[in-house]
Amino acid sequence: MTKKAWSIEDSATLYNVADWGKGYFSINADGELQIAPPNVLGQPNVALTDVISGIKDRGMDLPVVLRIENLIDLQISNLNDSFASAIVEHDYQAPYRGVFPIKVNQQSQVIEEIARFGARYNHGLEAGSKAELLIAMATLSEAGSYIICNGYKDAEFIDLGLRARQLGFECFFVVETPAELDLILERADLLSVEPRIGFRAKLSTEVEGHWSEDSGDRSLFGLSANQIVAMIDRLKAAGHLDWLRLLHFHLGSQIPNIRDIRTGVMEAVRYYNQLVAEGAQMGFLDLGGGLAVNYEGGDTNYDLQEYCNDVVASVIEALDPDVPHPVLISESGRATVAESSILLFNTLDVTKFEPGELPVVTDQHHDLLQKLSEVQAQVEVANAQQSFNDAIYYRDELRELFRLGQASLRERAWAESFALDVMQQVKALLPEMRRIPKELEALHQDLADIYYANFSVFQSLPDTWAMDQVFPVMPIHRLGEEPQREAILADLTCDCDGKIDLFVGGHKTLPVHELRENEDYVFGVFMVGAYQETLGDLHNLFGDTNVVSIRIDQDGSFDFVRELQGDTVEDVLSYVEYTPAWLSEHFRQTAERAVRNKLIKPAQRREILEQFRESLRGYTYYEH
Ligand SMILES: Cc1ncc(COP(=O)(O)O)c(C=O)c1O
Repeated sequence: MTKKAWSIEDSATLYNVADWGKGYFSINADGELQIAPPNVLGQPNVALTDVISGIKDRGMDLPVVLRIENLIDLQISNLNDSFASAIVEHDYQAPYRGVFPIKVNQQSQVIEEIARFGARYNHGLEAGSKAELLIAMATLSEAGSYIICNGYKDAEFIDLGLRARQLGFECFFVVETPAELDLILERADLLSVEPRIGFRAKLSTEVEGHWSEDSGDRSLFGLSANQIVAMIDRLKAAGHLDWLRLLHFHLGSQIPNIRDIRTGVMEAVRYYNQLVAEGAQMGFLDLGGGLAVNYEGGDTNYDLQEYCNDVVASVIEALDPDVPHPVLISESGRATVAESSILLFNTLDVTKFEPGELPVVTDQHHDLLQKLSEVQAQVEVANAQQSFNDAIYYRDELRELFRLGQASLRERAWAESFALDVMQQVKALLPEMRRIPKELEALHQDLADIYYANFSVFQSLPDTWAMDQVFPVMPIHRLGEEPQREAILADLTCDCDGKIDLFVGGHKTLPVHELRENEDYVFGVFMVGAYQETLGDLHNLFGDTNVVSIRIDQDGSFDFVRELQGDTVEDVLSYVEYTPAWLSEHFRQTAERAVRNKLIKPAQRREILEQFRESLRGYTYYEH
């Protein structure tokens, strides 16, 4: 029977495009990954390879973070429209108002896009620090936009928020600690501005998922029932209970189970009822973040519309009948921006775990090599495990002799090659085996290629390193060809953690294509718009990558709406307190010493100094 030819559908299935791509990523007839945002009339497709050509034509190199503006617009609409529809369906008597938590992606391009696309919904911003509050005040253009101030607040932070109130923003101070309340009262009095105060409640509802510690009694944030009671009394004593307007809670990010969300909302609404019963005016309920995204396809048991419906229904269910419906606020970060960014990088080299040339072994060769040669010649399904065991045993014996100085480098190399050959043969036989022992199953991983790629995990995908977050990763072209290799991806840093070795579906390797000489092989890592750029660090002094924002138009063309050059070497060196002038001067002295010592001629000195200066201006990543 002849094998069916590989198709683009096979690639789509292999890389789970339907699961994480939400229907707007697909593969075109040329085997290239393409995107068609559903909010562009006619849904034209744009191949990512075309975008990369455009990026290169404009003089920028990979790696690059590609932002698709249309997807930010889409997610803001989806969030607001889904809440609006839940509100109509449940006859809820107050509106929804979203705020984007700036910490999730503080890049000015992103915040400006959110402010612009969000203006029609009055979408606001959440600020967790003075710096973020300044961003919010300068970026939001609609008076009446909401600004939620979370985090610990000093007098300056509070004064800024009060100024925002004076300018017409609906600015709320979410009180995180009892001490903060006194400071707010003091500053409000001093500036004669009426603040809007919210309490952040520490709920006992605990959620599943990676951020479960954000919820429950031991969570770092929020006020206990006791503290809330004391603060109500404090406000009453000050004659300002009417300033208390909002209840806030946050159960954690990426909450996988909708039942936890419902339980949390119900508990929060009980608090809300009690605050109203104490005489507070209230009017606003802030659900925090937590709305999850589907990195792998099955991360959650709910979708956006179900989230909105369940939140609205739960609020109505738990609210005391005579309490007016509060304005619903949510601080969805991940769900707003994760999908809009793609990290694109090229591949530089590969290490394969394949045997070198094997010698024809005679009785003149070392005993262990003779044994290895015999094992290698007789691998079959029936003796696969035994062949594997023997090959490893004899290889390790020979390595031991090498350590003792009793075997040569060549003998060691042959022994390792024989063992690799046996392992490769056993791996090829695995599909024919009835039961595959664990050790042999791991051969896929143990023999996987290492594809060295032009990026830094620590700068661009910190969650991969810090918490084993799985992002969808795949080659963005050659998808009409069957990938013949299995690989993990290693980055440019000299760090054993600088790799991607966990893929969608829990797989430890990624199917990839053989590299071709003088031809780029490009990977895309998807859904990296939330937290990754912000949390990235300068390990090995690899800096920010180039960033390009495109807007896809109805005719399938795309505009480069923004381009941001990544860090130069000079930039990253300045972050660690080197100035180009200092470096150049010190290097000039070194070069001058070399002239004096007759190591180089003055003309060479000029060339070397010029190269040094040029490198300071260069990209921190691998350049062709
Ligand atoms: C207070 C607060 N609000 C909102 C968010 C954003 O959460 P998410 O990205 O899950 O929407 C966070 C993040 O953990 C947070 O701490």
